[in-house]
Amino acid sequence: MRDVKQYTLPAASPIIEIKALQNGNEAETCARMMAGSEPWITLRRDYNASLKLLADPSREVYLALVGGRIAGFLILTLHGAFAGYIQSVCVAPDWRGQGIGSQLIAFAEERIFHEMPNVFICVSSFNHGAQKLYERLGYEVVGELKNYVVWGHSEILLRKTIAPLAEFKR
Ligand SMILES: CC(C)(COP(=O)(O)OP(=O)(O)OC[C@H]1O[C@@H](n2cnc3c(N)ncnc32)[C@H](O)[C@@H]1OP(=O)(O)O)[C@@H](O)C(=O)NCCC(=O)NCCS
Repeated sequence: MRDVKQYTLPAASPIIEIKALQNGNEAETCARMMAGSEPWITLRRDYNASLKLLADPSREVYLALVGGRIAGFLILTLHGAFAGYIQSVCVAPDWRGQGIGSQLIAFAEERIFHEMPNVFICVSSFNHGAQKLYERLGYEVVGELKNYVVWGHSEILLRKTIAPLAEFKR
């Protein structure tokens, strides 16, 4: 399912539209945003690696638009091990701290919980700001993947759940 959704954010937050990524220009904009930002600089996900991920048809990519311009994006994996995985969430530096990331994650949860009872996300051990955000949004630490992407840093696996697998009904 590729969806389009309109969110009204709290007062003082911009109004964003969330829509599926549609073309190569949008993917290039997102790849530049990702490759130029932590944590991906430290994790060595450069422009080409970012673009490859954004173009991977096994992923779902959604954009947060403010006034028609890309202010952030989300990459989801809905198949395979840890189905319901938020692979990446990124907000453009000028738009951070204004509720866009929270709304992208709320959108991801709505999308994933429609089909499965768990949302997973990894956060780098050095990414304290994102860790704080995910804790506030109700995510729990379920494990630590040491030296998972680069030596010297862990990826912390987080989970938010609405039901055990055996109980879940779509
Ligand atoms: C993490 C991120 C997606 C959150 O989106 P956002 O729109 O800034 O977040 P919101 O405005 O909804 O929530 C703000 C919270 O995010 C967290 N945060 C993390 N990095 C932040 C940043 N650079 N600027 C502002 N808030 C940040 C803080 O906990 C903040 O809470 P506070 O306002 O109480 O301090 C965004 O800051 C970002 O793209 N950061 C760089 C990439 C990244 O770390 N992605 C996550 C990888 S797991």
